[in-house]
Amino acid sequence: MSKLKIKNAQKIVIRKAIEEDTAEIVEYMLSIGGESDNLTFGEGELKMTIEAEENFIKDINSRDNAIMIVAILDNKIIGSAALRAGEKKRIRHVGEFGITVRKAYWGQGVGSTLLNYLIEWTKATGIIKKINLRVRDDNKNAIKLYEKYGFQQEGVITREFYIKGEFYDAIFMGLKID
Ligand SMILES: CC(C)(COP(=O)(O)OP(=O)(O)OC[C@H]1O[C@@H](n2cnc3c(N)ncnc32)[C@H](O)[C@@H]1OP(=O)(O)O)[C@@H](O)C(=O)NCCC(=O)NCCS
Repeated sequence: MSKLKIKNAQKIVIRKAIEEDTAEIVEYMLSIGGESDNLTFGEGELKMTIEAEENFIKDINSRDNAIMIVAILDNKIIGSAALRAGEKKRIRHVGEFGITVRKAYWGQGVGSTLLNYLIEWTKATGIIKKINLRVRDDNKNAIKLYEKYGFQQEGVITREFYIKGEFYDAIFMGLKID
């Protein structure tokens, strides 16, 4: 389903994040903040420690309705996605999802490959019945990616982001899992 256009595409591996990835994930997250204005954090803003991230990965991997995955090319993380559903019984079926790809690899199918993996994993859980996300309303590439995988626009939340003196609205999008 996903179309991978990177040369040596066969070398890309999508797998679950493990505790040993922690230092590289922290470095990755800190560097992507400066690559896009479509995230909830900008360059140098993320306060992330190795210990907190290690606990985050441990927690995710101990749950049956949460996942963090990484896209690896030549032993380097070039993309990541995470989905976490609720812990309480009434919200265990609904997960919130986020995705990033290193700018140098945008538009080459990495995001599609990550999202495809994540949706297939979600279906296999038998627990998660809905994936939700929020996206800046002018983030056309991300919206196209989500629509390609069947996400529907469900509503708009105003003034969700405040970036360089401007407010931006966000679109709520969702995918039902049957
Ligand atoms: C959004 C993001 C994850 C997409 O990842 P990606 O690897 O670039 O996505 P893909 O290459 O798989 O492209 C997915 C779809 O997006 C659209 N798209 C991506 N780049 C595009 C471009 N430059 N021009 C037009 N459409 C584009 C296309 O519809 C594409 O599907 P197609 O190639 O089958 O037509 C990535 O751009 C990113 O990390 N952006 C910054 C962070 C961000 O915005 N995250 C989402 C926050 S909600």
